[in-house]
Amino acid sequence: MNTKSLAIVGTQWGDEGKGKITDYYAAHAEMVVRYQGGNNAGHTIKFDNKEFSLNLLPSGIFNPNITNVLASGTVIDVIQLVKEIKRIEEQGIKDYQLFISDKAHVIFPYHIQMDGMFEDLKTEENKIGTTRKGIGPTYSDKALRDGIRICDLLNAKKLSSKIKDNLAIKNKIFTAFGLKTFTFEEIYQPYYDAGQFLKSKITDTSRLVENFLKANKKVLFEGAQGVMLCLDHGTYPFVTSSSPTSSSIPYNVGISPKLLSNTLGVVKAYSTRVGAGAFPSELQDQMLANDIRIKGNEFGTVTKRPRRIGWFDAVILRHAIRTSGIDFIAVTLLDVLSGLKEIEIVDSYLLEGKKIDFVPSDVEIFEQVEPVTFKMPGWEEDITQVKSFDELPQNAKNYLLKLEEILEVKISTFSVGPDRSQTIEIKEVF
Ligand code: GDP
Ligand code: IMO
Ligand code: MG
Repeated sequence: MNTKSLAIVGTQWGDEGKGKITDYYAAHAEMVVRYQGGNNAGHTIKFDNKEFSLNLLPSGIFNPNITNVLASGTVIDVIQLVKEIKRIEEQGIKDYQLFISDKAHVIFPYHIQMDGMFEDLKTEENKIGTTRKGIGPTYSDKALRDGIRICDLLNAKKLSSKIKDNLAIKNKIFTAFGLKTFTFEEIYQPYYDAGQFLKSKITDTSRLVENFLKANKKVLFEGAQGVMLCLDHGTYPFVTSSSPTSSSIPYNVGISPKLLSNTLGVVKAYSTRVGAGAFPSELQDQMLANDIRIKGNEFGTVTKRPRRIGWFDAVILRHAIRTSGIDFIAVTLLDVLSGLKEIEIVDSYLLEGKKIDFVPSDVEIFEQVEPVTFKMPGWEEDITQVKSFDELPQNAKNYLLKLEEILEVKISTFSVGPDRSQTIEIKEVF
């Protein structure tokens, strides 16, 4: 098996434990590449009694031997990135390698204000519930060809003229809506300074990643968000503005698709969603949802919002497997289900009384589907200290085996707690 690269992608609505799983596999990696999204992501990693929350930095940042990359498909709030770098340095991580794509687009304060403005102006039913980090407006400017890239931060003349052009348009819009306008001075200097701070790390990462892969070095691709938040294949418009699928990696990184090997889908043992949008498996029983929320600490890393809770949804998973070419899955937060008498699994939907096994493209139709579930007996035992599949209670084994059977994909890994040591590998994939 060709195992020189492993793409780690979220299969649901984000927060599946991608950071934790990437950190685990980073022990064998020489490079970790974040390929899309920005600081809308929050990846939590725990080891040696320490907890780290990463928004932009790849989860290989703790290992001094790993080359970490922010690829051209990411959008970078450089002010926040500098803060994040200083924060992990204060937490004792001094020896690390980081490279930033010169082609990645920069998030500016006007993008952040516009993100909030769009949300506030929408009618209640159309509000996305974004993280308000400026992600959508930055990717829009990229498509409009109005974006300012990381390489522009290093060119004083170009940066100055592009900021002026952007402000000329954006300030008119803000004035029309009675919002704060931005001066050239308040933007130019801090962004130029951030570019100078990051200068030694800025490079053409497309060639850097290609060189690693061609030299048969082990490369991890760390996705942000999850397939159901994909701009094209998620529940549009209640999605993010990039594609977290592994199919997007070659484009987002600037490498040949032929250089990629396996994809590992990270799967929460149940479902969560932050923000608005259809969620067929959402629990109606608020007491149970609250129990799971508290046990799984299901509060957003970025916005602290309580996450919505649902049963495991196999229809969503098959959609993710199909659109992202998932070879294996890592099942996380299995421990959170301990103590439940019964666990439900959504296996198909009813749409106008007819059984369907796919995700409808129209979100209004998707909102009408009723989940068809079946029940599995739960287990009482605490499983947080389990070190192998064999040590799991029989009903927990049955739950995992059932997931493999209905998804027709093998589980390579499962996780029984937030700590690095609480990850169990069943099958070698990297
Ligand atoms: P990501 O965005 O996919 O990296 O996931 P987040 O870090 O946002 O959310 C996952 C949360 O679950 C974090 O608080 C992790 O520390 C935690 N976590 C990850 N795996 C497990 C697990 O197996 N059990 C428990 N109890 N928590 C886990
Ligand atoms: P990680 O990488 C969960 C959601 C937001 C909102 C929608 C659009 O930690 O899994 P955006 O700010 O991207 O325009 O918001 O996407 N969202 C996430 N939900 N985990 C994430 O990242 C998310 N990143 C964005 O809540 O519904
Ligand atoms: Mg997260």
